[in-house]
Amino acid sequence: MDNIKAVIFDLDGVICSTDKYHYLAWKQVADEIDVYFDEKINNRLRGVSRMDSLNIILERADRTFSQEEKNALAEKKNGIYVELLDRMSEQDLSGEVKSTLHTLRDEGHLLAIGSSSKNTKKILRRIGLSDYFDAVSDGTNISRSKPDPEVFLKAAEMLSVSPGNSLVVEDAKAGISAAAAGGFLSAGLGEASEHESVTYKLNSFSDLIDILN
Ligand code: BG6
Ligand code: MG
Repeated sequence: MDNIKAVIFDLDGVICSTDKYHYLAWKQVADEIDVYFDEKINNRLRGVSRMDSLNIILERADRTFSQEEKNALAEKKNGIYVELLDRMSEQDLSGEVKSTLHTLRDEGHLLAIGSSSKNTKKILRRIGLSDYFDAVSDGTNISRSKPDPEVFLKAAEMLSVSPGNSLVVEDAKAGISAAAAGGFLSAGLGEASEHESVTYKLNSFSDLIDILN
């Protein structure tokens, strides 16, 4: 598609598998407070901010938690999560993702990150992509997380491209909703490929090469 000038990638679960570390960290916190949590509930947390994620987990709790308690739980989860991130290295960037990014760049596309995570820059550093993207829009520059389109609109603004000329790549249903709300084209992996508003369904990350050709 030659009208697509830019590709805006979600990070967790798209560029790297940090979605599994989010799950492990939340699972540990949920177990400690005796709240049921599984992979299916975890899918609802994809693309959603840390506090909004905790609120979804606490839907299963049999008592209410004060804001102070919630802050402590969110902090505890992030501590566990960051420890897992600290074990990551360039080995955690798959060959498929790496070579697809290089191909898209060689074909002249602008490449950006659009992630709700406040740990985005740390993760990019760990996997050796610190200075790779033309723009990084993340949890530190937004006030509303997905399904609000803010994070992608900020990325498009940083790149000086319009949403209609940008493709958002997501593993989260909330991310596809955000892309649609902002007027972006979208490509979905996993559950996100089943969203009613998704433009392209991806079986694999490298399918992007055909879509953008
Ligand atoms: C998103 C993840 O990328 O970032 C969510 O899909 C996560 O699961 C959110 O809650 C916020 O991440 P962080 O690193 O700021 O807690
Ligand atoms: Mg994701």
